[in-house]
Amino acid sequence: MDAREMKIKAAEAALAHVEDGMRLGIGTGSTAEEFVRLLAEKVSNGLRVQGVPTSERTARLCVELGVPLKSLDELPELDLTIDGADEVDHGLRLIKGGGGALLREKIVAAASARMIVIADQTKVVETLGAFPLPIEINAFGQIATRIAIEKLASKMGLSGELKLRSSEDGPFKTDGGHLIFDASFGRIPDAEALARQLNTIPGIVEHGLFINLASLAIIAGPDGARVMQAKI
Ligand code: A5P
Repeated sequence: MDAREMKIKAAEAALAHVEDGMRLGIGTGSTAEEFVRLLAEKVSNGLRVQGVPTSERTARLCVELGVPLKSLDELPELDLTIDGADEVDHGLRLIKGGGGALLREKIVAAASARMIVIADQTKVVETLGAFPLPIEINAFGQIATRIAIEKLASKMGLSGELKLRSSEDGPFKTDGGHLIFDASFGRIPDAEALARQLNTIPGIVEHGLFINLASLAIIAGPDGARVMQAKI
């Protein structure tokens, strides 16, 4: 089974949690896109859902495939969000934001009664941090914000490069017009503490540590999909 087939397996298993009439947060990334394709088939066969997309990219795919959309302001309380992740540990702590949609993804997940993560088994880790942590920042004062993050990381015994994410046209801009630092900390032994501390830096709009948001993870491997519940 190749990587795409595993993503499809996870997305298929997640679809079983979608019920008629649900208000659904729809994630971003290649795994979430497999979910959108399967969801669109169900919708064309009569399933009624209202989707709230977590990015412009997901919104475009939903429109193209006929998945009905609402804004989060129209539907501020959601039943379920289904989204991918860059890393997931055994406490269902996540790193997200590899696709740059972390802010909307976190707002939508927090507005949902439940969040199901879908991923292939390569995303499961013992300790978060091998994937560089995306930190979305305001462009104003980005150097001061960088220094503040570096000082905080060093106090917490973390080190590693903070790389400003770039695109073909210069610095990468999120859907909200912000910039992203990718922080290569390597290993984050206390993700809760780092998440709390990052929230104290004013220039940070949001970070990619998702703590206590996922209720379930559906992890696909060569033998099919399995469900992971939080161990902690
Ligand atoms: C988007 O900003 C991310 O949070 C994605 O959910 C994450 O990067 C997973 O993407 P893939 O499914 O493409 O690996």
